[in-house]
Amino acid sequence: MITSRDALVVAASGGIGAAIVRTMLNDPSLDRIFAVSSVPKPPQEFGNNGKLTWMYCDYSAMKIARTVNHLLSLDCNLVMGAICNGILHDDAVQPEKRIDDITEESLRKVFTANAVVPILWIKELKQVFPKRDICKIAILSARVGSISDNKLGGWYSYRASKSALNMLLKTSAIELNRKFKNVKLISFHPGTTDTKLSRPFQSSVSRDKLFPTTFVATKLMDLMRKTDVDGELSFLDWAGVPIEW
Ligand SMILES: NC(=O)c1ccc[n+]([C@@H]2O[C@H](COP(=O)([O-])OP(=O)(O)OC[C@H]3O[C@@H](n4cnc5c(N)ncnc54)[C@H](OP(=O)(O)O)[C@@H]3O)[C@@H](O)[C@H]2O)c1
Repeated sequence: MITSRDALVVAASGGIGAAIVRTMLNDPSLDRIFAVSSVPKPPQEFGNNGKLTWMYCDYSAMKIARTVNHLLSLDCNLVMGAICNGILHDDAVQPEKRIDDITEESLRKVFTANAVVPILWIKELKQVFPKRDICKIAILSARVGSISDNKLGGWYSYRASKSALNMLLKTSAIELNRKFKNVKLISFHPGTTDTKLSRPFQSSVSRDKLFPTTFVATKLMDLMRKTDVDGELSFLDWAGVPIEW
């Protein structure tokens, strides 16, 4: 039986997620692109070349499990994945400048989006890991999640949620290496990228350090192709340079 080569993008309507979908749609080595989003319909820009399946999900544990069950029913053979969920700010949450800005609500919300939701995806996706093919999955993290790199302070919830994400991924990489030696996890820092997440903070970033989403998506796809499957979690930036924990 010929198996298809399928890819998954979670948080597919976000700035980086949508750019990864666009890049994957143009990649002839991938047969089907499954895009998951809390937005019910795909943006028109994706068109329809028959490769894209758009799946609505509210990111609750139950709906994540249901979405993966649906992938199973479609005989998904996952060779590449990008989990792009993330929040830095919204109407109710702003990155904290000082400890007094911390609220229980913002900690919960940011940890849920940045750490809990991505690890629930990894937990469920085990069911669609391929039997024979190599599978590489990138999870969008951030350099500010590096404890040793934290020289500036601030952004308590966002920093800590990305550190927590990295630890959850590191622990899962150790476990996955026992049963799924063909699967590689990459905790990926995209660099400051021009999306709604970074928009309020772009004024302090020089133009050459603010990346277009298409650039980041291309870099990530190259990185996923080049990175060896070694049973480890790699924490890599957009240039493929390892980031210290
Ligand atoms: N932009 C940057 O400069 C930058 C730098 C470092 C790291 N990152 C990381 O890159 C990833 C993608 O960010 P982006 O820049 O593309 O931001 P974005 O445009 O705001 O996209 C983030 C997406 O995450 C999903 N999301 C939003 N709130 C959520 C919640 N409460 N729970 C679960 N999912 C939620 C949504 O996907 P759907 O609408 O499709 O459901 C949203 O579109 C994030 O993990 C971010 O932390 C970004």
